[in-house]
Amino acid sequence: MELYAGNWKMNRGGRDSLDLVEDLLPRVKDKPLACEVVLCPPASALFMVAERVQGTGLQLGCQNIFYEEKGAYTGEISPAFVREAGCTYAILGHSERRMYFGEGGEALAKKVEAALQWDLTPILCVGEKLEEREKGEAWAVVERQLKEALQCCNHGDVQGLVVAYEPVWAIGTGLAARPQDAQEMAESITKSLDGIKGLRVLYGGSVKPDNAGSFLGQNSIQGALVGGASLDADSFWGIVDWQSKETGS
Ligand code: PGA
Repeated sequence: MELYAGNWKMNRGGRDSLDLVEDLLPRVKDKPLACEVVLCPPASALFMVAERVQGTGLQLGCQNIFYEEKGAYTGEISPAFVREAGCTYAILGHSERRMYFGEGGEALAKKVEAALQWDLTPILCVGEKLEEREKGEAWAVVERQLKEALQCCNHGDVQGLVVAYEPVWAIGTGLAARPQDAQEMAESITKSLDGIKGLRVLYGGSVKPDNAGSFLGQNSIQGALVGGASLDADSFWGIVDWQSKETGS
């Protein structure tokens, strides 16, 4: 099933998170969803949003976890706590975390392992920088990021991993990847992780209602990770519902 995740980043983390949820709710009322839709608000809003989306079909994800369950880790958030809040997904290894917080390496691999142990489906983000693409190194970078992040997991034991291919230069810039490049990358990711059951590959990076169909129509792409456009109910739903626009229904 296709998956659309809204990464709210460090926005709408207080009571204003509920305004966005209220705007989204009429769209799921009385209509069973034909895809999975996951809202990923800041950690401070998880419990509030969870209460509001219960029973609506909308799901909840977090933007990061730590790999330990509890203890003296000031400022970190436990996989157990986000589970308790109702999360079923966890965004891990987002490029902003890689860039500003040094995310990566073994710590990220342990987070992926912890997420799986806690029944949180990782939305593992990978993607190259512009200079890496220009040097023809895009796949080498993504392959290395996948290997690194999955080093603690035996592929055959992993169920339901989501990989979001997000070229760094496309995030928040309005400059999306070319759909055929995204498809090529998604295909390579799928091939290299073929031992993983229930793998889905998303595209992320300046996805908007206007370009969603060009990515979602590709056969190796099963959804989108949406940043900026997920902060507005109309634009997020224009992406989730891209097919009705294409068919005019
Ligand atoms: P964007 O962000 O849609 O604003 O480009 C995507 C992301 O960071 O996940």
